[in-house]
Amino acid sequence: MHIHRTIAEIRQFVRHFKAAGKTIGLVPTMGYFHEGHLALMREAKKTCDVVVVSLYVNPLQFGPKEDLAQYPRDFERDCTMARDVGVDAIFTPSDQEMYPQGFSTFSTFVEVTGLTARLCGQSRPGHFRGVTTVVTKLFNIVTPDRAFFGQKDAQQAIVIQRMARDLNMGLDVTILPTVREKDGLAMSSRNVYLTGEQRRDALVLNRSLCTFRDAIQEGERDAGRLRGMIMDMITAVPGAQPDYVEILAVPDLQPLETLQGRVIAALAVRFGKTRLIDNIIVEV
Ligand code: PAJ
Repeated sequence: MHIHRTIAEIRQFVRHFKAAGKTIGLVPTMGYFHEGHLALMREAKKTCDVVVVSLYVNPLQFGPKEDLAQYPRDFERDCTMARDVGVDAIFTPSDQEMYPQGFSTFSTFVEVTGLTARLCGQSRPGHFRGVTTVVTKLFNIVTPDRAFFGQKDAQQAIVIQRMARDLNMGLDVTILPTVREKDGLAMSSRNVYLTGEQRRDALVLNRSLCTFRDAIQEGERDAGRLRGMIMDMITAVPGAQPDYVEILAVPDLQPLETLQGRVIAALAVRFGKTRLIDNIIVEV
């Protein structure tokens, strides 16, 4: 497995394989891998000739009071895990390489409007602008045929899919299901921040989403009542502070009163200082 730290190096690597007619798959990540990341890499391996994983903790998508400095990192472990699933190259640039002009004078941004108005777009101002800008840079640098994202960050995946379509980026954006721990907690690099008690409290996320799905199966269609049900389950856990709970249509992420078609229940909840997100998509 090759490790490339500069844009020139990864460009040369990709150019070599493209000249030989090979397809390139890209899995953008911020590292500290878990099975969710590895599932994306395995699918990329299955469907593309050459798999590039980008590993870059992108400052542009973190708010001033967020966990950029504390974000978990373990490069050696990440390399071993990626190599074991057959990744061909890791692209891990420095801030200087990605933003040589510095952050204060960086001036070109990619912004997806509408889809970013709610959910994490509302509770983390500027977050998606940072994500879509860095993902555009990564797409321009690596020029993949396919890129892979997880439904765990459903709004992010939908926003990137729309961006790629709106701006004719000429690649296929694949979204893969959320990988969970045996007890249902969605895998996340941020789970390492949780204390034992918070880890147990956090099970309410998946539990409330399953209750949402079951209530729909039993015929409930009222978005307000379903939202109330999820909110009640979360607020019943003393250690859980809800940030948002929303039920929206997919893929336009607009509110609806009566459920029909594809719908998402998405939530963000704080356990102490740790903010976790989760979601479920149901076909009504
Ligand atoms: P990161 O949080 O490292 O996630 C990288 C990819 O892994 C994302 O597409 C995310 O949705 C996916 N992922 C995370 N947990 C998952 C799980 N439990 N099951 C399935 N997929 C999962 O998301 C980012 O990084 C960044 O915002 C990035 C897109 C790299 C831009 O900086």
